Amino acid sequence: MKKLTYFAYASLLAALSGMAFPAIAQKSSSEAIAEYRAALQDGNPADLNAARGEILWKTARGPSNVSLEQCDLGVGVGKVKGAATKLPRYFADTKHVMDLESRLVHCMMTLQGFKADEFTTKTAFSNEGQRATVIEDLVAYIYDESREMSISVPQGHKEEKAAYARGKKIFFFKGGPYDFSCASCHSQDEKRIRLQDLPNLTAPEPAKAAFAQWPAYRVSQGALRTMQWRLYDCFRQQRFPELQYLSQTSIDLTTFLGVNANGGKMAAPAIKR
Ligand code: HEC
Repeated sequence: MKKLTYFAYASLLAALSGMAFPAIAQKSSSEAIAEYRAALQDGNPADLNAARGEILWKTARGPSNVSLEQCDLGVGVGKVKGAATKLPRYFADTKHVMDLESRLVHCMMTLQGFKADEFTTKTAFSNEGQRATVIEDLVAYIYDESREMSISVPQGHKEEKAAYARGKKIFFFKGGPYDFSCASCHSQDEKRIRLQDLPNLTAPEPAKAAFAQWPAYRVSQGALRTMQWRLYDCFRQQRFPELQYLSQTSIDLTTFLGVNANGGKMAAPAIKR
């Protein structure tokens, strides 16, 4: 496991404060952030999540006291490598399109005996400063096993096509007090809110990059954040009603984003500001 280098921390502080290091402060914040990302490449704290996740995957847990090694993430029982590149997808055993987190929770329920109501945004997402949740560590491990592999979210089954079509509709659906849709913030180039670049998720290259980089370790929150969290937080920014953990809406949106990112290279868990 690699440790963050002093240089990485220094660059991070510079990027976040913009003022602490005069030489760096002269650069734009995007440049400073890009620099600190590069510095962090050999020390992503998500490596720790992934290492813990691998142990969790192989450890007998839950009321049934079994490991997750019999879980089928879509590429065969017990197989983890490449699984994240092909999700969401339709599963014949549940007759539903499932994203990675839904499928993982499905395995935790059916194999390990956990109950559905044990999985909510409160139990799945860690609060700032808290230890990572079991879900966060497992998700980090599963994505890490698909690093550098090509994204190929399937569209062969009619349910997969239906999920994509609904996801697209939701992406462009305007509502709430500001009459925002996802597209209001994510369909133009070079848009930003304060320090944050808003990727144009309707253009092929940014759409690939965005999907490829989630889940991600958020330095500003000191936590590994999953795709379900990403969408939950964008719903909040959109002033929409709270997005329910593992809801159909979340799976449909992830399908839309995933299919649009096909051909991109997985780089998750990435590291983000
Ligand atoms: C009010 C503006 C706003 C709306 C509306 C919004 N987002 Fe976001 N989105 C953001 C911000 C801010 C970020 C974070 C950028 C950062 O941290 O660098 C973000 C990041 C993302 C990312 C990750 C991009 C990356 O490269 O890391 C995805 C994916 C995403 N949003 C999807 C959505 C979806 C889907 C919707 C509709 C449900 C949506 N967003 C609605 C503001 C918005």
